Amino acid sequence: MNNYQTQTNALIFGASRGIGLGFVKALLKKQNINIYATYRRRNVAAELLSLETTHPQVLHCLAVDVTKEDQIANLSDYIQQMESKLHLVVNCVGILHQGALQPEKSLRQIYSENLVYYFQVNSIASTLIAKHLLPLFCHSNKSILAFISAKLGSIGDNHLGGWYGYRASKAALNMLMRTIAIEYGHKCPQTIVVSLHPGTTDTDLSKPFQKNISSHQLFSIEKTVNQLLEVINSLTENDSGYFFSWDGNRVPW
Ligand SMILES: NC(=O)c1ccc[n+]([C@@H]2O[C@H](COP(=O)([O-])OP(=O)(O)OC[C@H]3O[C@@H](n4cnc5c(N)ncnc54)[C@H](OP(=O)(O)O)[C@@H]3O)[C@@H](O)[C@H]2O)c1
Repeated sequence: MNNYQTQTNALIFGASRGIGLGFVKALLKKQNINIYATYRRRNVAAELLSLETTHPQVLHCLAVDVTKEDQIANLSDYIQQMESKLHLVVNCVGILHQGALQPEKSLRQIYSENLVYYFQVNSIASTLIAKHLLPLFCHSNKSILAFISAKLGSIGDNHLGGWYGYRASKAALNMLMRTIAIEYGHKCPQTIVVSLHPGTTDTDLSKPFQKNISSHQLFSIEKTVNQLLEVINSLTENDSGYFFSWDGNRVPW
């Protein structure tokens, strides 16, 4: 994030719940910040929308389904009418399970439409965000474009198998992030583009899979967000294009 500017403009995708909502709460404690936050379903975004009511000058909430490119384009147009720059963008949108869509335990459970949906939400959306927000990163202040990935997307670290769609879509996200970092490096070199592994965090996403996780390995949302903000604040331009864990170490591809 930018330490030199008087005002930081931040945009958090997927802020209705979980880690995204945690980022909004943490950023609201900072001075001189202006926060844009997206939600998909209004009916599950009550806490976020009530924060907007209590912080009307600072927090601006907008509905965006990241599988719809026109909605990302409209968001970018709207922010460009309000601001000339963004300094911090964190894409916290992700799915592991959603209704009948559940992580696959074996090849018998592979359905191409489910794989496509994992890729649409977990991988492709981040490229659309990078595509449409590029004009807002064309300035001279240090800035961060971060995508929340997952260590399960590490190919080198995959010793257990299973969860085909989730793993593959996060591995694809990391390749897309790296490629975005190279293009941003030419067009807006002061922007650091990274993937971040948050660690297992107590959210709706991990809830069905928490029973074999010890309490010290399961982070609260607040702890995860504080750790990720520390990583974000310590990033330098040489870090662009890499995949970082919550402890600041690089995750193997
Ligand atoms: N929790 C963990 O242990 C863990 C571990 C590793 C990585 N991660 C990653 O961290 C990120 C955040 O996860 P979380 O645990 O905070 O999950 P979560 O609590 O389930 O929140 C997911 C967020 O994604 C949004 N979303 C899903 N599909 C969307 C779409 N098509 N368009 C717009 N928004 C959409 C949800 O919006 P709605 O409220 O409208 O559904 C919600 O805001 C994800 O990328 C996840 O893969 C999490």
